[in-house]
Amino acid sequence: MSETLLFSPLSIRGVELKNRIVVPPMHQYSAIKGFPTDWHLMNAGKFAAGGAGLVVVESTKVERRGCGTVGDLGIWDDKFIEPLGRLVKFIKQQNAAVGIQLGHSGRKARATRPWEGDRPLQRTPEIDDWEEWTPVAPSAIAHSEKWPVPRALERQEVKDLVQAWGEAARRADAAGFDVLELHGAHGYLVHEFLSEKSNQRSDEYGGSELNRMRFITEVTEAVRMHWPAHKPLFVRLSVEDNAGWGPEQSARLATILKPKGVDVIDCSSGGITDVAPILGKEIKYSYQVPLSEYVKRHADIMTMAVGLIIHGDQAEQILRDGQADLIAVGREILNNPNWPMDAALKLGVEGPFRNVPPQFGYWLGTRDKRGFGTQPSTFQNGLRDPGKVS
Ligand SMILES: Cc1cc2nc3c(=O)[nH]c(=O)nc-3n(C[C@H](O)[C@H](O)[C@H](O)COP(=O)(O)O)c2cc1C
Repeated sequence: MSETLLFSPLSIRGVELKNRIVVPPMHQYSAIKGFPTDWHLMNAGKFAAGGAGLVVVESTKVERRGCGTVGDLGIWDDKFIEPLGRLVKFIKQQNAAVGIQLGHSGRKARATRPWEGDRPLQRTPEIDDWEEWTPVAPSAIAHSEKWPVPRALERQEVKDLVQAWGEAARRADAAGFDVLELHGAHGYLVHEFLSEKSNQRSDEYGGSELNRMRFITEVTEAVRMHWPAHKPLFVRLSVEDNAGWGPEQSARLATILKPKGVDVIDCSSGGITDVAPILGKEIKYSYQVPLSEYVKRHADIMTMAVGLIIHGDQAEQILRDGQADLIAVGREILNNPNWPMDAALKLGVEGPFRNVPPQFGYWLGTRDKRGFGTQPSTFQNGLRDPGKVS
């Protein structure tokens, strides 16, 4: 197979992605007071150099209260533009497009890092803005009995927050990002507005399904006012949350958001309760792909598939079956940052090293020409395949 969809370019608005492989937002818990560190350069840089078409920087918070942990990235002030710009420049130098996810943790803010137990933080003297960091949500309903009851946002605070997302988009543009993704999934603030489990407001932001969709709709409008028309806008949804919100609601929401300027729905699941939709079912490759397919077909919008997409031929098949337009590879790219190059080799793509920088792509190419390629087919019991020796 030399002609693949996975390695064909995709243009969205004025941005051309060199292939369909996306590094999804993955939190690094490594910012200092909201500022990126060299860790972020190293982390995103290796994925960009590995050949992905688009690298999306982790959930970056639109206000201080929205930080999930002590190491969240921030974009709630102009002071973040310059250091984020450095990260953008570094990723672009590796010939990848660069996105950023804007987020707010809502009632799941002020928590430990996952490997510290994924539970509410205890007050310590090192956290000098404890009160400022009080978790807020649409309603004063705790995520579960393990979590504190958040403070319900006043109506004016909701309106201020909509503007905060718009301001964050302005800063993301000023920093040079190509793609913006709004985090509307995983039980965080936007999802909390969508779900009737967490949203029991009596104003225009609660009650009917349309009212619960109002916050994300206004956020999208505010973001689009500041985010240039030539740049793509993605929204990540928990297309199924097993708590009253499912593919039908997601497709209806996508239909509302598309004319507001949303280009791609990034189709994830879960997070509004502690019981993930996949629990209790067989966990298998591509488990969220049917959600992407549903939204794509019913809302007539581009989608990104994510979740246990591990192999190149698996990714290619999803695209060929028309189940998604983009493929996000998360944990597998943590395992192998050169996943795109590896997938190109395994799929038999012509010029498999052209997606990576010549500093290493050139040398792998010359080795390949001499018959010592990295494809499994050239390795037979430790001997070169004689037919490939040049
Ligand atoms: C370390 C780590 C951090 C993550 N951080 C975020 C994040 O900031 N925003 C988000 O929407 N999803 C986040 N996710 C979820 C991933 O984007 C992705 O949806 C998930 O890992 C499933 O895809 P996979 O099976 O390819 O890993 C994170 C996942 C991991 C492993």
